[in-house]
Amino acid sequence: MVAIITFTRQVFLAVAFALLAQGAIIPEEVAKRDGSPGFVSLGFDVTRKPLNLTAVAHNHKRDSISESLINEGPSYAAKVSVGSNNQELTLIIDTGSSDLWVVDKHAVCAPGDYCKVYGTFDPGASSSYQSLHEPFAIQYADGTASQGTWAKDTVTINGVSITEQQLADVSLTAVNQGILGIGFPTTESVGGLLGSSTYDNVPITLKKQGKIKTNAYSLYLNSPTAESGTFIFGGVDNAKYSGELVEEKVTSSALTISLSSIYLKGATYSVAKDALLDSGTTLTYLPPAVVRELAQQAGAQLRPAGLGGLLYFIDCNANTSGSTTFNFANGANITVPNSEYIFPNNDGTCLWGIQESNDIILGDNFLRHAYLLYNLDAKTISIAQVKYTSESNISTV
Ligand SMILES: *[C@@H]1O[C@H](CO)[C@@H](O)[C@H](O)[C@H]1NC(C)=O
Ligand SMILES: *[C@@H]1O[C@H](CO)[C@@H](O)[C@H](O)[C@H]1NC(C)=O
Ligand SMILES: *[C@@H]1O[C@H](CO)[C@@H](O)[C@H](O)[C@H]1NC(C)=O
Ligand SMILES: *[C@@H]1O[C@H](CO)[C@@H](O)[C@H](O)[C@H]1NC(C)=O
Repeated sequence: MVAIITFTRQVFLAVAFALLAQGAIIPEEVAKRDGSPGFVSLGFDVTRKPLNLTAVAHNHKRDSISESLINEGPSYAAKVSVGSNNQELTLIIDTGSSDLWVVDKHAVCAPGDYCKVYGTFDPGASSSYQSLHEPFAIQYADGTASQGTWAKDTVTINGVSITEQQLADVSLTAVNQGILGIGFPTTESVGGLLGSSTYDNVPITLKKQGKIKTNAYSLYLNSPTAESGTFIFGGVDNAKYSGELVEEKVTSSALTISLSSIYLKGATYSVAKDALLDSGTTLTYLPPAVVRELAQQAGAQLRPAGLGGLLYFIDCNANTSGSTTFNFANGANITVPNSEYIFPNNDGTCLWGIQESNDIILGDNFLRHAYLLYNLDAKTISIAQVKYTSESNISTV
């Protein structure tokens, strides 16, 4: 998810209620504890649901900015506990935003109760909870939003606890479940509410409280059909990629690296722009000119979607042999099978896995094919072609 603006209550009320999420499946617990010092690993639960084109179209029409991000389909979440009494919540681990927020026990989902399926938080039951009595509000680029109150409490990740972590207790949301944003503090949603200064978000606190050595983490979403993946704070799993990790420079205040070009079916398409590597986004978003050319090669077509807006569709039975290769500025190359670009909708059509946006976002259908080490201290992201394996060889970063 990409947080686009911090805003007032009034603005929130105008936009928050349009996205109706669907019923969700309660994921199985996969978090495993490892006793090794210096890193904290966390199992992802993968949930899948078909894209809901009506919701997408609503979203697209409503959106005032140029892009409409479709965050349905597979999503990657993990178990995190909050409070003195370890209240367990399943949160989306999001490299595209920087704030941790949880769904309050009495929260209003917009509308329905779907936001409570993944666990709710009861501040009254935690003796370490301290309200900061300041309003929190965030809006993501897919049009969803949340609001609540800033607070501090203990956060426990796979048995490792950090204390007095700033987080938001959310009372109203149009997002499916709570989010653990792990990007740079510069993209936090403090927006003047707590003064203009940023705060120590979860990865920074893990480092300051001595749980990890570096504000770094690695991402292994696992194969498109896997039920779980792994996220490691402060470590890297050398068994899970082939070749060498190639270090790319972070190119903005978000977790972007420079995408040089894309190779598909014998042709190279030049891009040379910053690309956000965002675990909270489902699809791939590229500039309109590049998308037009790739669509022609792939046989995808721009068509009206539901109630408004245009999206790229592809024949659900299209030949998906072959792959698309993404070349980055420092020489990293990631190859994605073309089968990653067919997303069934719930109306029998298929959305193409690449859509238009002026800001490039490489979401989960790209990230499943890379192993990534985000180093926020060094401002680098090292990437290599993923190797799907249950073997593990973790070293501390
Ligand atoms: C799809 O989204 C629309 C609009 O948000 C909603 O009314 C509808 O119930 C959803 N369909 C399913 C099958 O969830
Ligand atoms: C799909 O395309 C590939 C390469 O163009 C070709 O070799 C293969 O026969 C095609 N498969 C089908 C089922 O048409
Ligand atoms: C990535 O691909 C480019 C262009 O084909 C090539 O020059 C470069 O050596 C490749 N990088 C690696 C690490 O293989
Ligand atoms: C584990 O990874 C390290 C660092 O890449 C490497 O030196 C070592 O040989 C690996 N160990 C095994 C058992 O593969």
